[in-house]
Amino acid sequence: MNILGISAGFHDAAVSVVNTQGDIVFAGHSERYSKHKNDADIHQDLIWDACNTGGVDHMAYYETPWKKQLRQLYSGQGIEWNKLTTGQILQQQLKGFFPSASHSCYGHHLSHAASGFQTSPYDRATVVVIDAIGEWDTITIWGAEYDKTGRAKYKRLWSQQYPHSLGLFYSAITKRVGLHPLDEEYITMGMAAYGDDHYHELMEAVLISDPGTIEFKQNLHAGVSDTFMGGLDHVDIAAAAQRLLQRLIGNVMRRARDFKWSTNLVYQGGVALNCLANRQLGRFFDDIWIMPCPGDAGSSLGAAALAYGRRLHWNNAYLGYNIPGAYPVDDIVRGLLHDRIVGVASGRAEFGPRALGNRSLLADPRGTEIKGQVNAIKRRQKFRPFAPVILAEHADEYFNMPSGWHSHNYMQSVAHCREPDLYPAICHVDGTSRVQTVGRDGSGIRQLLEYWNSITGCPMLLNTSLNIRGEPMVNDRKDADRFEMLYGVTVCS
Ligand SMILES: [Fe+2]
Repeated sequence: MNILGISAGFHDAAVSVVNTQGDIVFAGHSERYSKHKNDADIHQDLIWDACNTGGVDHMAYYETPWKKQLRQLYSGQGIEWNKLTTGQILQQQLKGFFPSASHSCYGHHLSHAASGFQTSPYDRATVVVIDAIGEWDTITIWGAEYDKTGRAKYKRLWSQQYPHSLGLFYSAITKRVGLHPLDEEYITMGMAAYGDDHYHELMEAVLISDPGTIEFKQNLHAGVSDTFMGGLDHVDIAAAAQRLLQRLIGNVMRRARDFKWSTNLVYQGGVALNCLANRQLGRFFDDIWIMPCPGDAGSSLGAAALAYGRRLHWNNAYLGYNIPGAYPVDDIVRGLLHDRIVGVASGRAEFGPRALGNRSLLADPRGTEIKGQVNAIKRRQKFRPFAPVILAEHADEYFNMPSGWHSHNYMQSVAHCREPDLYPAICHVDGTSRVQTVGRDGSGIRQLLEYWNSITGCPMLLNTSLNIRGEPMVNDRKDADRFEMLYGVTVCS
């Protein structure tokens, strides 16, 4: 039975396909097809690509519609009468595709949990989910394991509900500092390093009634007022919020560990994208896994995993649209040696918000000028650094890598660079880098790094997504040609 997992109708629509053997045969984002950032609806071409992997016998939706509508009614958003049942939503989103397929739906946080646990290497794990808003849950802690027959089981250990939400808190701050909430939280995180976090205690006193159970004094769904922390620079507000967020996440992790379910941590939900906060996770757990698409789009895979019921075969995050052909190692290196910056669009697109080498803008990380040049191409704020991608066996030479992570290859935590002055383009002002390591996995980016290292003696490249600010990543060859034409960067494919 092929299962189609679906996350759609609200933001970041995505689908995943799991086959009868538990292989993840496809996972992709709608925005890469429609070219509308955070597109809520499933694009027809995305369905076609998912269909190409075989028929669909069952459809699994990532949340429970009537619960979501009840919460929306409570929060003053009104009811969408045409989104009360899974059948209604699937009819709208899939437009008559798969008429004979059965369907099911699962809880929003349970789908997050399953997307992590059933792709993880663990037989038993503590699962923490922290996001902004779905149905009612905003934070959940689960005990997860496989029973004797191999079926995944989840025991709900603790939860916090709307409106007490760490995700809504960080989104409110994102709006307060002039950015787009539910999209540009990663920029808030980047700004934080430039500010003085001294005001985190004041922020906590104003907003939080109980830091242990993560209860807020006010509903932050509508944001904070424009005069909140008035008189402070945006960077100081961002810094205080980041420090407060980290303290509160720490409280959640401590609570999760104290259940003594497992020393393995699976962490999912949109807040799990905060790689700065993630560096503290090793204080609480011995081993950590974050599936590289931990937000709601990734829950399409979680819903499919729940319908499948067992461990999925996780190989890598290259699960989307395929640009066929060999990885263009020679062309990329030639471009890097000549222009220092080159794009690549080859193989299957990454599932998740990070470019991991198949839809990337790559550059020589050495020297002081490259950061400004890449930021100019990407139309990004000048202060923002880029991430390094490095051969795994050399990572410790260049960075103080935290231990216990199964997710370094997906850029999910930061590490201190040992020589930030030599590599300013891939180091933030606080000396940290969001490191992507590449093991001997046979991937194109692995071959590229090996060749690059053999020629230059540098096992590392600057790696950022192949898009400009505000646009979705390049998906197909047509997008790559457009990028090349508009922004004057050679894109190899
Ligand atoms: Fe969520």
